[in-house]
Amino acid sequence: IPVEDFDLVIFGATGDLAHRKILPGLFRRFVAGQIPETSRIIGAARTEQDDDAFRAEAAKAIVEFAGVKKNDPDLVRFTGLLGYTAIDAKGEGGWKALKARMRKGAVHAFYFSVAPSLFGDIAERLHGHGITDKHSRIVVEKPFGRDLETARALNTMLAQHFREQQIYRIDHYLGKETVQNLMAVRFANILFEPLWNAQFIDHVQITVAETVGVSGRGSYYDKSGAIRDMVQNHMMQLLCLIAMEPPYHFDPNAVRDEKLKVIRALEPVEPSDIVRGQYQPDGKEPGYLEDAENPDSRTESYVAMKVRISNWRWQGTPFYLRTGKKLRARTSEIAITFKEPPHSIFDDTGAPRANELVIRLQPNEGMNLKVMIKEPGPGGMRLVQVPLDMSFADALGPEGADMPDAYERLIMDVIRGNQTLFMRGDEVEAAWAWTDPIIRAWEDGKQRPEPYDAGSSGPEEALRLMHRDNRRWREIR
Ligand code: BG6
Repeated sequence: IPVEDFDLVIFGATGDLAHRKILPGLFRRFVAGQIPETSRIIGAARTEQDDDAFRAEAAKAIVEFAGVKKNDPDLVRFTGLLGYTAIDAKGEGGWKALKARMRKGAVHAFYFSVAPSLFGDIAERLHGHGITDKHSRIVVEKPFGRDLETARALNTMLAQHFREQQIYRIDHYLGKETVQNLMAVRFANILFEPLWNAQFIDHVQITVAETVGVSGRGSYYDKSGAIRDMVQNHMMQLLCLIAMEPPYHFDPNAVRDEKLKVIRALEPVEPSDIVRGQYQPDGKEPGYLEDAENPDSRTESYVAMKVRISNWRWQGTPFYLRTGKKLRARTSEIAITFKEPPHSIFDDTGAPRANELVIRLQPNEGMNLKVMIKEPGPGGMRLVQVPLDMSFADALGPEGADMPDAYERLIMDVIRGNQTLFMRGDEVEAAWAWTDPIIRAWEDGKQRPEPYDAGSSGPEEALRLMHRDNRRWREIR
């Protein structure tokens, strides 16, 4: 279904995110017939260049990152939608010209794909020049602050010019098809929800493992570390979607209210429940210190933690979270381990008895439910655990294999005016309020992160986090 006619301004249009994600994402939606041909996409950045130069730049990025041919007729049509205005974010240059480009009657959206230090300057000038009004929408990228105080300051600043309903804070994990699917699995099936609590679930593991390191973006990453870069936002969102109560409707505030309640119910994390790691050189490839270009860095490229949620549903069921760079494989998954049946009527077979539901977020998106069955054969009643394994690609055919990128979905939601998959201001602040003490304790301490080999599953210490609870991490592969 096509969205309404729109004018989208991308601040930072010459930057990496615009090249890799925003422009290719828009192009794909255009090819899918979702973007009206009358719409305008206006690049805005410091570089002085004209419309044609930006069109050529955008086409090059789309060829590279969306895998289309240079002379693809769709690409030619798409670049016809593009324009460019050079803008001085901290001065007055370009703003009048930008205003002149905005059409009456179209949806107006402004994408802040710039350093957060420029958010204030841009918001003020948009407002001051009368380019935005109470219907305009703004999109802000992460990082949204680096602690509670800075996030609050950002929220306060944005609130001077925009209402909450106009602000779209991106967490691209929420745009991933399989992440949205968590809600479908939980709330569109009767099978799982009755068991979805501490009475029946032993524990939950959330893993986001990456094979990439931080080289090339060390200057950003070294000031963030895994907790700011991944836990405060992406991991927290996954945790919320697994742990939240059913919202009364799939509606922006109903969903976000429930997520917020989960974050508020998180217990402070004990220092003994967290392990931080940093990857080491492996003879072939450099380690974190070299990648981050900071030989003294104590920043973590890996974190594992045990999290408790203090509410009726989850009392006694721990959530184990881990995420890291340069690990053995790229894999994101959520594994729910159920409790064993209270009593076995079969003679012990030694087979594991706990059911497990694994939701694979990426790659090879799918679900795997481990169930017990009788082992075939005349040898008595032996049990064996087998997977009910489904890959979405197999189940859904080509459409299941060809999942739209998170940004495609999210940008279209901005134009549609649907905030369900965006973070509300209070949610972001609550997430920082929970991570701040963890970060502060590390910064005050002198401890170094635990070393781990590049290409491994993370530091040894993280294994202990599980072993002492008589549990095991799932293998990363
Ligand atoms: C980003 C982080 O938000 O998410 C990166 O800044 C990380 O460090 C990335 O690599 C992971 O996203 P995805 O979509 O590749 O899982």
